[in-house]
This record gives sequence, C-alpha cells and structure tokens, in this order.
Amino acid sequence: MLLNQYGLSDEAERHAGCSCITASVDDINFETTIGVGQVVNIKAKVNRAFTSSMEVGILVCCEDLFSDRRWKICNAFATFVARRTETGKVQLKQVVPRTQSEQMEYSLAAERRRMRLIHAEIITDLLSSCSAQTVNECLDFRCAVPAEKTCVESVELVLPPHANHQVSTFGGQIMAWMENVATISASRLCNAHPTLRTIDMFHFRGPSHIGDRLVLKAIVNNAFKESMEVGVCAEAYQGGEPLRHINTAFMTFEVLDNDGKPRSLPRIRPEPVDGKRRFQEAIARKKIRLDRKYIISCKQSEVPLSVPWDPSNQMYLSYNNVSALKMLAARTNWVLTSEKNQVSLYTLEENQTLCFKVETHVAVAAEQVFLMLSDLKRRKEWDHHYQECEVITEAHEDDTIYRVVTPSVTKGGKVQDFILLASRRRPCDSGDPYLIALRSVTLPACPPAEDYNRGEVLCAGFTIWEGGNSCTKISYYNQATPGVLPYISTDIAGLSSSFYCTFSSCSAFLEKNKGRVAFLPTPVVYRN
Ligand code: COA
Repeated sequence: MLLNQYGLSDEAERHAGCSCITASVDDINFETTIGVGQVVNIKAKVNRAFTSSMEVGILVCCEDLFSDRRWKICNAFATFVARRTETGKVQLKQVVPRTQSEQMEYSLAAERRRMRLIHAEIITDLLSSCSAQTVNECLDFRCAVPAEKTCVESVELVLPPHANHQVSTFGGQIMAWMENVATISASRLCNAHPTLRTIDMFHFRGPSHIGDRLVLKAIVNNAFKESMEVGVCAEAYQGGEPLRHINTAFMTFEVLDNDGKPRSLPRIRPEPVDGKRRFQEAIARKKIRLDRKYIISCKQSEVPLSVPWDPSNQMYLSYNNVSALKMLAARTNWVLTSEKNQVSLYTLEENQTLCFKVETHVAVAAEQVFLMLSDLKRRKEWDHHYQECEVITEAHEDDTIYRVVTPSVTKGGKVQDFILLASRRRPCDSGDPYLIALRSVTLPACPPAEDYNRGEVLCAGFTIWEGGNSCTKISYYNQATPGVLPYISTDIAGLSSSFYCTFSSCSAFLEKNKGRVAFLPTPVVYRN
C-alpha cells in the first residue's frame, strides 16, 4: 500500500520535471493475496498528461522465488498533479504514445479521467436517491454485532520519513494508515484476520505536512453475507487548529477459510441516525461496485452483449461503450478488403470475431460531422438500414438511448429492432478524434416485442478526425454480432456494394447539410 514511497510519484515527477502530489487513486481490486516471503513487483508508467495532471498506470505483480511462479495482484490508476508555481498552474508536456498498447492506454486515459472527475457527483446523486426500503427490510438485528464494537480511532504524527522532499505526507503513507485502522475494525466484527479485497476510488482533498497529527477513524458500515464494507476517514490538525478533512475511503474485506473460500460473516447492527445512513449507503455502494466490476473489469469479450441500463451503472456503461470503441480503433492489424467511390472497407478477424471498418473523407468541418452523426434519428436520411429511430431516454448530456428498427434480413421475415446506447465525446485535446460509440443495452421499459427480432450490437460507432482545409476523416467501426452480420456479410465477401452506397450517401448528406446549424439530440421521451 505504500505506493508513493515505491516510486509512483518519482515516475510522475520525472515526466513533470517538478514536484507532484497525489490527487486521487481509482478503484483497486486485489485479485489475489501476497504471502510473507513473496516478492512484489510494481511497474508504474505515465499514460497521459493533461494540463497539470497526469494518469499513472500501476501494475502490481507477485513472484514466488521458490516456484518461479508470477501472478497479477492488481491494476490501478493514480492521478498526480504538478504543484502550482508562483506563476500559476503548470502546463505539462504531452506523452507521445509509441506502441499500440501505449496508444490504447493514452486514449483510454481520457475516458478514465472523465469518469473520475464526475465520480463523486454521481455517487452523491445515487446515494441521495437510494431507497429507504432496504434499511427497513434489514433492520431485524437481534443477533447482530453492534457497530460501536468495530469503531477504531488512532492518531499518527507525521514525521520526516512519512513525507516527501516538499514536506507533504506521502499519499501512500496515508492510505497505509487508513488500511491499518480499517483492518482492525474489520477484525473486530469477525474475530479473525480479514483480507482486503477492494478500495473504492478516492480523492485526496487537501494536503498534510510534517508535524501534522492525522486522526484516523474506521467503522464497519455494513456486513453482507461474505464481505463487509469499512468506512475510514482521515483528518489532519496542527496544534490547536481545527481538523481538516484529508480523505474518506471505503474498503471491502473478506475472511478466508483454510481453502481460501470466503467465510460467512456476522451481521452488524448500525448505530442510530448516522449509522443507519452509512448502513444504507454501503448497500448502494455495493451495487455500484458490482456494476463497475461487471461492466468495466471484465475483458471486452466477456461482457455480455446487452447489459441492463439503469442510473446506477450509467457512468460505467458509458465508459465501457466508449472504451470498447477506442480499443477497436487503436488496432493496427486492419486489412483493406476493398475500395470504391473513395470509401474503403477494412476487416479484422481474430479469435472467432469479425470486425469491419468503413472509412471515407468529407469536405465538412469535424464538429459539424459530429453533430449531424450524433443524432441517430437523422441516420435514416442516409442509411436505408435505419427504418425507424426514436429517442427512448436522454440518459445524460453525452448519452442517449435509442430504439432503432432495421429491415428483415430474410424475405418476409420479421424486422429487427435494437436498443442502443449512443455515447458522444468531443476531443480531450487536439490529438483526439470526436467519437460516437454505440452498444446494445436492455431496458425494462422496452422488452423485446413479438413482431420484432431483437438484434444486438456489441461495439460500433464513429471516430471523426479533423483534417486540414475542413477535410474530415470518418471511420465507422462495427464488431459483427449475429444481429448485424447478415447486413454486411455480402459486402465483405465482395458480392455486394451496399456499404459503399450507404457511406457515399452519408457523405452526400453531410455535404448537403453542412450550412445548417446542427444540434445534439435533445427531445426526451420517457416511458414507464
Ligand atoms: N481526481 C483526479 N484529478 C483531479 C481530481 C480528482 N478527484 N480533482 C482535481 N483533479 C485534477 C484536475 O482535473 C486538474 O487537472 P488538469 O490541470 O490536468 O486539468 C488538476 O487536478 C488541478 O485541478 P484544480 O481545479 O486546479 O485544483 P483543485 O482545487 O481541484 O485541487 C488538488 C486538486 C489535487 C491539487 C487538491 O485537491 C489537493 O491539493 N489535494 C491534496 C493532494 C495531496 O496533498 N496529496 C498527498 C497526500 S496528503
């Protein structure tokens, strides 16, 4: 846990050329444990620099010297910020990605940054809307352990070995102290040695320095069947000054039996008022954690086709949607299949999946192209596969859910419909494209209907690159699924040229409408 002392800030400072502080660390999931006598390898790398902040990717692996076995412990992302100087905010030099995997991390770093900057706001919204019903259901706690029994408080004096050359306490040191009190609190519930499984994303709100006293408080917020959430708070003070809030973290612990399987845990009886609130919020956070793990941590190929959409997983589905498209676009092994009317069709076959990319150029500004293509309702003006398209929900300013109806793939067969989440992104800086990502989601309000075959899209969308003289490159990507393949297989086999016609008419549509002001889709049609 002493991440900073082990060179993460060194990596950030080497890139920045000046002193840096830890701003935040994204969720950490510990996949396995590390035993005494095993060797820990930590690799850190600056994935991308923004203005004064940079994302450092961290890979922690373990090595058993006696069996020569190596395994992954966790993958994490920390954000470091270059300290302000007298002249103001530092402008960091850009990272230049060289390999395909560096390019991918560079591109995904922008998406992760977006998620971490809105994270606190979204969690607050979700927690304030979580229902009171869950608490009432769970409040029969005759044999439960009183939460007060798990309270731990400790005070640490920040000494020179705990701080960097700028006398600020290492973020990793604070995390380690927080983990200590959390572990004691967890063991008071279960009377055993607990294992840390996850730490939720957290933000260092303010600095602390040598000479500060750090007050660390932990309590078990809720115990689920085989895991518990411990809340930890770190505050700092010096002399008679008031306490400053430095950090709040939520850690999940398990207790493993001799076979390494999680043991059942006793229930907790929350303290009145605040304890009940924390108890309830822990339930909401558990759902958010599961959603996140399910949607983000899975390998792309393991994510089920349609994930149910709801407000608590909206941020992760949007991230998943955009990051899947970014990963597809970053691939370098596309094969040019054919070219016609300045439209190129590429394919990528791998591990039994087939992806295709259609590329064309238009003499229309990238921003205009982005606005016009973002509105899927207009797609039927150039794509005859879109028979109908309606907005189901305006999930967020960057995310809209549509229902799209496409023709039957067989003569006289049923038409298909798709429930698509469209996630839009403007460039994070001048080296990025505009992006419109599409993937299927399920919505209870839109179950499959008898007259339609429900089709699914795993990963599709546009990247739109600004070129010189208003010449914009448009790439359309699609990872073929059974619902989509019939529409394109004849093109890929060279038996048809409907895709060239479709993308030529896309260019014509964009050029015809380029003088008109385009807006992002706004109409909201809510359904029950
Ligand atoms: N996660 C990641 N980055 C964050 C962030 C968060 N939760 N909050 C802010 N940032 C980034 C901003 O995006 C911005 O990046 P950019 O310049 O590349 O656009 C950068 O931090 C500075 O943001 P700014 O708005 O100028 O400052 P702020 O008032 O939000 O302060 C910190 C951000 C991190 C400087 C401030 O919270 C702080 O000093 N925290 C304590 C850090 C510390 O001492 N850590 C060691 C442990 S004590």
